[in-house]
Amino acid sequence: MIRRRRPLIAGNWKMNLTVRGSVELAREVVAAARGLADRDVAVFPGALALHAVAAILADSAVLPGSQNHWYAPDGAFTGEVSAAQARDAGARIALVGHSERRHILGESDETVARKVAAGLEAGLGPVLCVGETLAERESSRTEAVIERQVRTGLAGLSAPALARMTLAYEPVWAIGTGRTATPDQAGEVHRFIRGLVGTLHGRAVAEDMRILYGGSVKPDNVDGLLALPDIDGALVGGASLDATQFQRILRFRCPAS
Ligand code: PGA
Repeated sequence: MIRRRRPLIAGNWKMNLTVRGSVELAREVVAAARGLADRDVAVFPGALALHAVAAILADSAVLPGSQNHWYAPDGAFTGEVSAAQARDAGARIALVGHSERRHILGESDETVARKVAAGLEAGLGPVLCVGETLAERESSRTEAVIERQVRTGLAGLSAPALARMTLAYEPVWAIGTGRTATPDQAGEVHRFIRGLVGTLHGRAVAEDMRILYGGSVKPDNVDGLLALPDIDGALVGGASLDATQFQRILRFRCPAS
């Protein structure tokens, strides 16, 4: 398979690790990623560790990312972090609309879209996360839900802005549950998303858009998922906290490499 899009493997550390633990893991990721010339690697540490992690990653190819930001540029938003602050602390890319934020913290599609715009404005590359819950899948609403999330999240973006976007398909029922979508299930949704982006923003944008898969990606399932033509990388939660597992995932067998 000749890959048109460069794969990206990203570790989402969620609300785990101290600053010191994050720095240690960042060092291990730098070592694990050394010599991987045909793929990109990123990590999303907790906000308070971002600056220290970015300093460790500075001389490496591993990209620092932020897990979340608020959409206003500054002001009276106690407890929030702006996209510009995340950028200033060293982030290059930014998760937006992760399902834990949508479902636990109640973020709407509109809020997510404003965060996409704020991330772009601050110079970050947003990674827009989409995915259906188990109830939505079981009632055959997967495509409708994802269409709404993608349509709203990318609405009104220019071609240069779209070129800086990444999408991540993360079925909510597969996140942190050990239940991965089969390559068939994931491949079907990735194909749908690429087709949808083509309909909404044109075929060239769709062909260049990286679409990551996330949800219980582990060393033993990464090769099967990444072998599919529309799966351009992985967003890894639990297994990214273990340097050995993450290293194996980073070294997934890329048919074009
Ligand atoms: P998981 O998390 O790999 O632990 O399922 C993925 C994610 O939420 O990004």
